[in-house]
Amino acid sequence: MGLKLNIATLLVLLIFTTSAANAQPTVFNVVKKYGGKVNEDITLPLTNAWKDACATQGGSKVVVPAGTYRLGPVQLNGPCKSPIELKVRGTLQAPGDLSFFKWGSWVSFLRVDQLTLSGNGTFDGQGKSVWGKYGGALPINIRFDFITNSIIRGITSLDSKQFHLHVFACKNVTLLHLNIRAPGDSPNTDGIHMGRSTRIRIIDSKIGTGDDCISLGDGNQDILIQKVTCGPGHGISIGSLGRYENEEPVVGVKVLDCKLRNTMNGVRIKTWPASLSGIASDMHFENIYMKNVSNPIIIDQVYCPWNQCKAQIPSKIKISKVSFKNIRGTSQTKEAVKLLCSKAIPCENVEISDIDLAYQGSDGPATSQCTNVNPTILGRQNPPACTLK
Ligand SMILES: *[C@@H]1O[C@H](CO)[C@@H](O)[C@H](O)[C@H]1NC(C)=O
Ligand SMILES: *[C@@H]1O[C@H](CO)[C@@H](O)[C@H](O)[C@H]1NC(C)=O
Ligand SMILES: *[C@@H]1O[C@H](CO)[C@@H](O)[C@H](O)[C@H]1NC(C)=O
Repeated sequence: MGLKLNIATLLVLLIFTTSAANAQPTVFNVVKKYGGKVNEDITLPLTNAWKDACATQGGSKVVVPAGTYRLGPVQLNGPCKSPIELKVRGTLQAPGDLSFFKWGSWVSFLRVDQLTLSGNGTFDGQGKSVWGKYGGALPINIRFDFITNSIIRGITSLDSKQFHLHVFACKNVTLLHLNIRAPGDSPNTDGIHMGRSTRIRIIDSKIGTGDDCISLGDGNQDILIQKVTCGPGHGISIGSLGRYENEEPVVGVKVLDCKLRNTMNGVRIKTWPASLSGIASDMHFENIYMKNVSNPIIIDQVYCPWNQCKAQIPSKIKISKVSFKNIRGTSQTKEAVKLLCSKAIPCENVEISDIDLAYQGSDGPATSQCTNVNPTILGRQNPPACTLK
């Protein structure tokens, strides 16, 4: 009897606690509840669903079911009353016509805590209609500003007009299983650009685009990029730094277990000459496979495209604590390793270890250049480390 009672009590407790833990978020279906229709514009239904969801306690979920929809520029703003998920199963198509855009992005999330963006849907930026035709800045596909403690999972960003994803002033955000695609010759279509953000993880994602796969501006700290496949594109880049006033330090970047194919650069740190002073420190690139990559490993402190700067005045960005470890594959150019540091402030604490980058061209073999840096050299070195000074 006593035993039975105890079991019954336990069961009641168990049911109670699991139902509390599994409390379902309130669902806001853009089609079922808000009048959205396949092949039509869902700007208003989505905006209204978001507003209601955001004002709901106890968790909410906005659902865009499978199907193709047109969507104008939207601002999905917080703060919200509780955790909020946007689950996009369908394909969203941006307007091709620029006159629809009153601000610099298509889908924008601002000041949301505990956001989940999921559902494996596609954000089709329809960039083909505008690439190369306009001088000014084009809209960014998806913007995240001041987003905290959030997860972006499984979505596809396709043919953005400008950057695909822009992450600014965010904290503790994981981007997972993303698929980012645009043609290799589409201008300024950086895959993920981030600025002034802390504790960002980009994991297990595929990026093929016309500019940097991932680029980090100033003020980023504690960043992890892991298991990312890049190509076509311009590679994974920290910088360019030192172009603007009041830039904040970049500290703590790890790029691990990545693959780059047919990209214009591999892993790169770049700073402008004639720059203001700044810091880029604690940046580690490890276990990276490159295939047919131009400039596989590059620190470029004389980055001055189109002669936009006074190239003879050295960069004042101090680069330190950098490692390139276990980086192998093939280089598309003879200059496989280039560590070009500032004459004014040489790089410090740089380590290159286990490098194996082959170059097949008739002007071969591959070279390794080191200026204003004395790296620690460990393990295998192909090309032989710092053959050019
Ligand atoms: C998204 O794709 C992943 C991997 O293919 C799958 O496990 C998951 O169930 C999908 N999610 C949705 C909402 O379709
Ligand atoms: C980071 O965000 C995730 C996802 O919302 C959350 O589970 C985790 O507790 C957060 N971590 C910190 C340190 O706040
Ligand atoms: C190597 O990469 C370049 C782009 O940098 C591309 O044009 C070329 O087709 C690639 N070669 C092979 C064999 O894939």
